[in-house]
Amino acid sequence: TPRTPFIAGNWKMNLDHLQAVAFVQKLHWTLKDAGHEQGRVEVGVFPPFTDLRTVQTLLDADKIPFALGAQDLSTHDSGAYTGEVSGAFLAKLDARYVIIGHSERREYHAEGDDVVAAKVQAALKHGLVPVICVGETLEQREESGPTAVSVAQLQAALANVPADADFVVAYEPVWAIGTGQVASPEQAQEVCAALRGVIAQTLGEDAAARTRVLYGGSVKAANIASFMREPDVDGALVGGASLVVDEFASIIRYQK
Ligand code: G3H
Repeated sequence: TPRTPFIAGNWKMNLDHLQAVAFVQKLHWTLKDAGHEQGRVEVGVFPPFTDLRTVQTLLDADKIPFALGAQDLSTHDSGAYTGEVSGAFLAKLDARYVIIGHSERREYHAEGDDVVAAKVQAALKHGLVPVICVGETLEQREESGPTAVSVAQLQAALANVPADADFVVAYEPVWAIGTGQVASPEQAQEVCAALRGVIAQTLGEDAAARTRVLYGGSVKAANIASFMREPDVDGALVGGASLVVDEFASIIRYQK
């Protein structure tokens, strides 16, 4: 596969900017000490907005090869939108990625498919790579099967996305997020393959072959390899385990 695996740590609302410095340095040194081969896997960290400037400065100063991402962005470029953060600002901080449509934003901030699609457009406009999150609740899985909800969410998010756009998809079954109830590798593969099918249908085979589809939901050092063996799983979006240096380093260093 020509796709570089992507291990992304979504810190959610954890680690302030002081804690972030210690964490990123320790992760970097843990990987170095373990002889981790840079470039085999792309590593991404997604801190809270208030950490981004500090982490950017650290990555730059110490030449730490992690990609920086934000957890959300505004649909607007600038203006009277109190509390919002523009993609233009994130791009100026050298953020490469931005998570869009995480289930926690869909649930706690009432973000529907229309908002997600608008945020994808905003990200692309500012040269950011959207990490588009999709996934079903247990109820939805029982009602409409494993793939229907994720497929519909991705179709909506990809409306008006050009065929050459750079983006990442993350399949995160809601029932597996922060619950310890991990999806099986087969379950992840089934939905990730369906999502790659959506990309092929919407944007063409080239886009489908090039785009990384991640699994997220209770990923740990102990289960990462089983997901990475699946042909359509190109990495992981990691929540809780991305906050523990040794655990996250072991996930990054997975062996198939
Ligand atoms: O974005 C990350 C996911 O929500 C997964 O979180 O690894 O804590 O289950 P988790």
